[in-house]
Amino acid sequence: MSSASRVLNAALRNKIMSADEAAALISSGVNVGMSGFTGSGYPKSIPAALARRITAANEAGEKFRIGVWTGASTAPELDGALASVDGVEMRLPYQSDPTCRKRINAGEMEYIDIHLSHVAQFVWFGFLGKLDIAVVEVAGILEDGRLIPSSSVGNNKTWLDQADKVILEVNSWQNAQLEGMHDVYYGTQLPPNRQPIPIVRPGDRIGEPYLRCDPSKIIAVVETNAPDRNTPFTAPDDDSRRIAGHVIEFLSHEVKMGRLPANLLPLQSGVGNIANAVMAGLNDSPFEHLTAYTEVLQDGMLDLIKSGKLDFASATAFSLSPNALAELNADMALYRDKILLRPQEISNHPEVIRRLGVISMNGMIEADIFGNVNSTHIMGSSIMNGIGGSGDFARNAYLSIFLTPSQAKNGSISCIVPMVSHTDHTEHDVQVLVTEQGLADLRGLSPKQRAKVVIDKCAHPDFRPALHDYYERAMKQASGRQTPHILDEALSWHSRYLKTGSMR
Ligand code: COA
Repeated sequence: MSSASRVLNAALRNKIMSADEAAALISSGVNVGMSGFTGSGYPKSIPAALARRITAANEAGEKFRIGVWTGASTAPELDGALASVDGVEMRLPYQSDPTCRKRINAGEMEYIDIHLSHVAQFVWFGFLGKLDIAVVEVAGILEDGRLIPSSSVGNNKTWLDQADKVILEVNSWQNAQLEGMHDVYYGTQLPPNRQPIPIVRPGDRIGEPYLRCDPSKIIAVVETNAPDRNTPFTAPDDDSRRIAGHVIEFLSHEVKMGRLPANLLPLQSGVGNIANAVMAGLNDSPFEHLTAYTEVLQDGMLDLIKSGKLDFASATAFSLSPNALAELNADMALYRDKILLRPQEISNHPEVIRRLGVISMNGMIEADIFGNVNSTHIMGSSIMNGIGGSGDFARNAYLSIFLTPSQAKNGSISCIVPMVSHTDHTEHDVQVLVTEQGLADLRGLSPKQRAKVVIDKCAHPDFRPALHDYYERAMKQASGRQTPHILDEALSWHSRYLKTGSMR
């Protein structure tokens, strides 16, 4: 299909222009809602054109910066391009780009790290200020002006609704068979008029396959033909295979105990290599007829569909390595009836996650002996990526599981520490911790009972004696109080790492 044939609406065909012409319609100081979620469905040519414009402005001695709101992380063509020219004043709600991360941690870019289910409603409520322009990639425009969403839905419905002006990138590289794979829900109301979200199974359709947009707001249409770009996952190593093994053994035990059905409950698997490895592990497990109610669909989940283990997956975006993406596009017919993409306020909706009884599995940076989890910060101050959807799922899941290798940076860091250096998920939202060492089932345990289990099951043997020593001295000093800590020492493992390069 040629790119021109994807803009079927006559009035919008008249608005086709180059990326540079469209970028010229975006002025400094505005908030721009861009499509894009975990390397999928982000605009490919306008951010680059905007970066050229910003460079020219900077060379002329003018500052040119915008607010960038997205679904979640994007790709070097968006976050990388704009961050490298220092063009972003404020970024939200999630990023994982190295250049962006560097700017944020150097204090050169503001960043608001928001639960992904909150973003759309925060915009509807007016909590984030005015959205000036939406720049949204679509896979095509129908004759009647409805839009075929591309490889992610994210916050696009909200950006198109709420922005004063809209620029569309029509990407003819996106698979034409994406048409029909989306379920865009237009029934959301504001409090106090909200109604239940009528999803009772992961595959329930409650919306429409197309996005709507008032044509009078559309100021430009740019045609592109460029691939989504995502980084490859690292192949599962021994540690991640062990982590996957512990999770599968635990889930089997839960089935045996009658706490889970034989085909489990809908799975959610987070971003990152470990979460992807667990999906790969499920492929070799005895479980059949699995379902997923998740945020992103990674390689591991695609493999589960291919092998016939996973009957259906609901998500908001693909997050696939280049090889898996090529496979999806080559064999779309196999996958298209088994996958549904929804807006992120629905894929991550607390009400639906709680109703379906989702099993949530997310990566973490560190956990403390009482079960508090840090998913976002390195040594307390530096951002890694963001909370993403991990809080939406962990807080509302049937089972919330967090995964990490027990050590990082060649064993110089223990991922089990006396006190986390930043808290994203409190002990109240964390039920199971898993490292390659073992699995700590924290359900029904008090903080003091948790501490012993976390140290014995999850910490690396090299760090266990020091953790036990800390806990025993804390018990004495705090006279056995509810959550015993030695405040002067609780973060000393992190400060030792910062001073000496090792927690040891
Ligand atoms: N202290 C310091 N650095 C640590 C660390 C610790 N305790 N644990 C891990 N790291 C470093 C690793 O060394 C690695 O660094 P590098 O990039 O310089 O090599 C980096 O953090 C990533 O670790 P890795 O083991 O490769 O993890 P991952 O790919 O499985 O990702 C998270 C783990 C936590 C970063 C990732 O899952 C994440 O961003 N989670 C938050 C968002 C989320 O959960 N979204 C899903 C919701 S649907």
